[in-house]
Amino acid sequence: MLDSGNNSSFLRKDSIIYKSPFNYIGNKFRMLKDLKLILPNDSDNFIDLFCGGCDVVTNINAGHKFANDINYHLIEILKAFQSMTLQELLDKIDGIIIRWKLTKTDKAAYENFRNHYNNSSRDAIELFVLMCYSFNYQFRFNAAHEYNNPFGNNRSCFSSSMRQNLISFHRLISDIIFTSSDFINFDYDIVKEGDIVYADPPYSLTCGSYNDGKRGFRGWSLLDDQRLMRILDTLSTKGVRFALSNVIEHKGETHLAFNNWVQRNGYNIIDINIDYNNCNYQTRNKQFITREVVITNYTL
Ligand SMILES: C[S@@+](CC[C@H](N)C(=O)[O-])C[C@H]1O[C@@H](n2cnc3c(N)ncnc32)[C@H](O)[C@@H]1O
Repeated sequence: MLDSGNNSSFLRKDSIIYKSPFNYIGNKFRMLKDLKLILPNDSDNFIDLFCGGCDVVTNINAGHKFANDINYHLIEILKAFQSMTLQELLDKIDGIIIRWKLTKTDKAAYENFRNHYNNSSRDAIELFVLMCYSFNYQFRFNAAHEYNNPFGNNRSCFSSSMRQNLISFHRLISDIIFTSSDFINFDYDIVKEGDIVYADPPYSLTCGSYNDGKRGFRGWSLLDDQRLMRILDTLSTKGVRFALSNVIEHKGETHLAFNNWVQRNGYNIIDINIDYNNCNYQTRNKQFITREVVITNYTL
């Protein structure tokens, strides 16, 4: 639930929420109801700077939509989806599952297919299918950029709900411009007054799997939070609106840099009170409280 001060003007008509077929670690699906109230739908350009599985960008309306992520394997899949008709995509996925005899319970078939992907194929749609059968659907790579996520025994498969999610997702991403760049090198020249930049980076106070070791990418640190704050300040002076998702309190630790930054610049903190990552942070014991927020430079 969003701590909105009971302002009913937050309520929007467009209440349909689409789920991405990625089940991406750190995805914002569970807080989309709140995010749809926070993120304006009226911008010319909407930029999802750390798009992950695209749960946010596919649920927002804008004149033009841009989605970026450092994980170029992910962006290659998204671009591959765009390059195919829905029927071609579904036929290709079904063909891969049949050819490699993938099931929820056959670990050997999964590992055989993973070897094939790592050693010779590197095909984006094959990587998507591999992810569908893997543990917690994680995008994990070793330093040589080989996919190294284990089998999602008895849990993961290209299920009928994933298929349904993919069918709407394919339509929803058709007009998104995808880039794969470190946020530091993103081309901010495309962003102009009135546009929205949504930033959902890894949280330095908690550990998503992209932050738990580098997983083939460069990891995330407090220094990155500081770089991001500077970029958002610069955008703000250009009249760009931003919304930043983050955790500012976790297990007794406070993200002082974010708190001070908000105070210094008069930005807004909106609390999102949901049970995130299975942590019960409604508990009275402060040690276990996780305060997840959205920081904005505009008022709702
Ligand atoms: C919290 S997840 C985003 C989840 C996304 N909002 C969703 O709903 O699925 C953070 C993302 O930031 C990406 N990332 C990490 N470091 C990055 C960097 N330096 N530049 C751009 N993206 C980065 C990760 O690959 C990951 O996909």
